[in-house]
Amino acid sequence: MAITVNVNYPGVLSLAEYVEFVEQNVDLRDIDSLVATAWTLQGLSNNKTFLSEAINQEIKRYLAGDGIMRMYTPQSLILASRAEFLVRANMWIEPSQDPKARELEVPLYSYQSAHDHNFDFVTVGYLGPGYETAIYEYDRNQITGIPGEKVELKFLERTTLPKGKLMVYRCSRDIHEQYPPPKFSVSLNLLVQIPESRLVPQYFFDLNAGTIVRFSEDPTSRRVSLLDFAACIGDENTADILTFLASRHPCTRTRDAATRALDAIGSRKQPNLVNSPQMLATGP
Ligand SMILES: [Fe+2]
Repeated sequence: MAITVNVNYPGVLSLAEYVEFVEQNVDLRDIDSLVATAWTLQGLSNNKTFLSEAINQEIKRYLAGDGIMRMYTPQSLILASRAEFLVRANMWIEPSQDPKARELEVPLYSYQSAHDHNFDFVTVGYLGPGYETAIYEYDRNQITGIPGEKVELKFLERTTLPKGKLMVYRCSRDIHEQYPPPKFSVSLNLLVQIPESRLVPQYFFDLNAGTIVRFSEDPTSRRVSLLDFAACIGDENTADILTFLASRHPCTRTRDAATRALDAIGSRKQPNLVNSPQMLATGP
């Protein structure tokens, strides 16, 4: 199951110390290494000042002119970005009293939307009582991975992420559905961002029906969209590239999209027999 790491590390790490530790000591491809070193994220969460300093710096940097905000999503600030991992802070707001505002908040914060992740990650509560979450697991090897497909879901637990609680979520294995916390809360994450993750889709699930609802808007979906674009306006040169992708790309969705695009381009090249000169010349 999503792993709760029962440690109580009293030390305090700076963001730079934490990042350096991860760079030098964590095997990002080994879940056991993530679990064994998770206490260091607790050390960062014991640092009462680093997050406000990071937010101040980010606003100053933005105002100074590069115009790029390092927000992973509207609720999530990137604190550090390296080749194969990210450190981020997420805010979790309590439910708005205004029903219209609440309607907008639910998708923005991924509340009540069961999903897995296409990467392992470590999380810790930094502030507040934390969101509530229902956690399930599934076996990625038992599914094809298409919307509407039935998935065998196993309920694991319903829990919260209060300040100091440490958990490790497993890539393409744990599914969680989150609910707003009773009070404003913040969590910190170490996200594994190894290149292999970009080939694995992230899914949203219907827990009642036990089905995959849709893919997430991630790099795989963007790759598929580009190939759908190619299907509509591609030419012979596109077909050459698609032939390679359809047979060689490691991602199933990408291979399928390339095959669809090839078919679409191929069917556009078929001669229109009704209007072809040959047909007109030999007609009855
Ligand atoms: Fe999530």
